[in-house]
Amino acid sequence: MKKILVTGSSGYLGSVLLNYLTERGYDCTGYDTYFFRDTLLYPAYADKTKLLDARDITEKDLEGFDVVVHFAGISNDPVGKLDPARVYDPTRAYAKAIATMCKKLGIRFIFASSCSIYGLGKESLLTEESEVFPQTGYSLNKLQVEQDLRSLADKDFSPIALRFATVFGPSPRIRFDVVINMLTGMAVADKMIVLNSDGKAWRPNLHILDVCKSIRCSIDFDYKGGELLVMNVGSDENNLQIIEIAKIIQRAVPGCELKFLNENPELDKEGLIRDRKVQGADTRTYKVSFEKIQQTLPGFVQCDWSVEKGVIDLAGKLQEAGLTREIFKKRGFYRLQQLEYLYESGFISDDLIWISNKPNA
Ligand SMILES: NC(=O)c1ccc[n+]([C@@H]2O[C@H](COP(=O)([O-])OP(=O)(O)OC[C@H]3O[C@@H](n4cnc5c(N)ncnc54)[C@H](O)[C@@H]3O)[C@@H](O)[C@H]2O)c1
Repeated sequence: MKKILVTGSSGYLGSVLLNYLTERGYDCTGYDTYFFRDTLLYPAYADKTKLLDARDITEKDLEGFDVVVHFAGISNDPVGKLDPARVYDPTRAYAKAIATMCKKLGIRFIFASSCSIYGLGKESLLTEESEVFPQTGYSLNKLQVEQDLRSLADKDFSPIALRFATVFGPSPRIRFDVVINMLTGMAVADKMIVLNSDGKAWRPNLHILDVCKSIRCSIDFDYKGGELLVMNVGSDENNLQIIEIAKIIQRAVPGCELKFLNENPELDKEGLIRDRKVQGADTRTYKVSFEKIQQTLPGFVQCDWSVEKGVIDLAGKLQEAGLTREIFKKRGFYRLQQLEYLYESGFISDDLIWISNKPNA
């Protein structure tokens, strides 16, 4: 049985991945610093996550694992009142430190990168070889970690970077700051979708269970190329304009209205929809090619989830979970709000280390 370690295992993706892998016969452990542990949409799956900051991981904590899936990081973008360098530099440093230890110990390293590093796409369909234009601290950080992994790679260390499209779909620790989850959440809780733009920007989208599938296939792939293997994860059919996504959601949640924030500013009193809070609502617009993963990653074949199928499923799960406006607006479902709260309340430092009230393991 393969032993897998997931860092950042109590986040949006990790909370689903550990269960997914465990159900498929992998022995899965997680480390997390628990910034988002306690806000749950529905009960979390039982898993073997331990409280451990990725900065404090030592060789001893890695011994015995076959694969490390590196999720730990700060994914909200922008960082609001926090200083991007204080937030992102440590995440680059610990990704490199953990990868270096994996290299020494002969452990496969799989990194959660992001299609957002393409930024403003100049080509019609962006491939792994296209030039990248990271627009934000988050995207730049992903690129820098990829560069570090590229320089660490050699004949005995062949890391994999999966550039995920923007993920959507249910998780006990769902995020409502990503575009499809946010718009579907609004539709279910308020019977109304409010767009903060004209909706013309293109985005690649990826269902959370297809993230899990790509990781399972990467774990099983005996890749020994001696260099960093970079693959976009998503599907061409899920490259959609935000307005198209809104229409798909309208079909999945009958009776839901579509409105534009510039015509109705009073609809966003809490500022949740404005750019500051929402990862999916900025100037990025790009379409991505997903041919390479289909040709390279054994067993992946293609994504199983279209946006349409995923939205119907998500809307059903949100209804089942009894999503109300009050639950939809809970701080813990929004990365930036939660981190700003922990920082401004004195629980964490400006480089996101627990100062007081450290959660129990
Ligand atoms: N969700 C997406 O759309 C998406 C897309 C592309 C890439 N990714 C990447 O995938 C990874 C997982 O994403 P997610 O959506 O689950 O993010 P998330 O923010 O929900 O979860 C990240 C987890 O990492 C933990 N963490 C943060 N700093 C840590 C540290 N120093 N030590 C230990 N744990 C720490 C947090 O407590 C949190 O539980 C991230 O690296 C993210 O950038 C996500």
